[in-house]
Amino acid sequence: THKIPVIQELARQGIQHLPQCFVRPQHERPSPSLPYEGPFPTINMANLLDLEEPVHRPRELAKLARYAEEWGLFMLENHGIDKEVVRSVKDAVDGFFSLGFEEKKLSVGTYRSVDNLGYGRNYVKSRGQSLEWIDRLTVRVAPARDSEGLDVWPRKPLNFREVMEKYVNEARRVMDDILEALAEVLGLERLSFLKFFEPNESVINMRVNYYAPCPRPDLVLGINPHSDASALTFSLQSDTTTQGLQVLKNNKWVTVTWPNDTLLVMVGDLLEIMSNGRAQSAWHRVVTQKDVERFSVALFYNPPLRAQIGPVVGDGDEEVRNELNYKKVVVEDYVQNYYKVAPAKEKEDFIA
Ligand code: SIN
Ligand code: FE2
Repeated sequence: THKIPVIQELARQGIQHLPQCFVRPQHERPSPSLPYEGPFPTINMANLLDLEEPVHRPRELAKLARYAEEWGLFMLENHGIDKEVVRSVKDAVDGFFSLGFEEKKLSVGTYRSVDNLGYGRNYVKSRGQSLEWIDRLTVRVAPARDSEGLDVWPRKPLNFREVMEKYVNEARRVMDDILEALAEVLGLERLSFLKFFEPNESVINMRVNYYAPCPRPDLVLGINPHSDASALTFSLQSDTTTQGLQVLKNNKWVTVTWPNDTLLVMVGDLLEIMSNGRAQSAWHRVVTQKDVERFSVALFYNPPLRAQIGPVVGDGDEEVRNELNYKKVVVEDYVQNYYKVAPAKEKEDFIA
């Protein structure tokens, strides 16, 4: 069998030299990225929700449209999710990753990456590829299926599932609000995007990405460049740092400045399709840090697997109707295909 190291264990052993399997060829190495000059794209959720407000709301909506078009992501402040709830998610993740390796495996009851769920790592597609400096835990949170889900939900910490489900309920409400606001500002029926979703059948996968301190951040990547297959991705990150994630903007890698109390919203491929390309999925990657561990918790929000989605056009929009940039696609087909093919190479060539 092909032995794949768990990076947290490498870090715990205090390795000083990077194992060769993580070392990138020259052209894939992260050149120092630029901090963004100026305030990083940020949406104040409270302004979006104040429906009668005549000044701040229209401004916030305009920003939302611009960030979705030009960045494919933005920070979310005043998101309305209880601080204590966010705190408890971070504590639960800390609790899980402070377990020993064997304990973790027992806690999750599975160690596999075949179906991309469970505790383990991202797909390893070929023996030659450089490995990403990451461990991860993926759980299907919704639709909740008790019997199936149990071998994947960690049993330790004891409150892990309860805490995550509570957080996801709140996060779902925020994501729905964003989908409504985005439809509105694009001149569409407010429910144009939300209509593809369905409270009982929509899919939310939660992925905890864990990046241990890395002896040579200049030679590795935490995650390869990619866009998410989801409609929306909603993330928080550990309090240990305010960086790690990078986004490609005007063909340059830009560091996402991520204040600790802020959440991140990312446009995924499915929303790009629904919006006929007016919202663009973000092309992003993760770099590691030398003495700093970092985790992020990403929620991938998708319509039901059987739903067929496609570009939505406004009523009087005959011109657009004739210029659909995307075909209709069944969510399940898109997602399966996404996990089958290697990440596209084209955009990588832009690395400075
Ligand atoms: C991801 O692309 O899923 C990871 C993002 C992050 O760690 O911030
Ligand atoms: Fe991602």
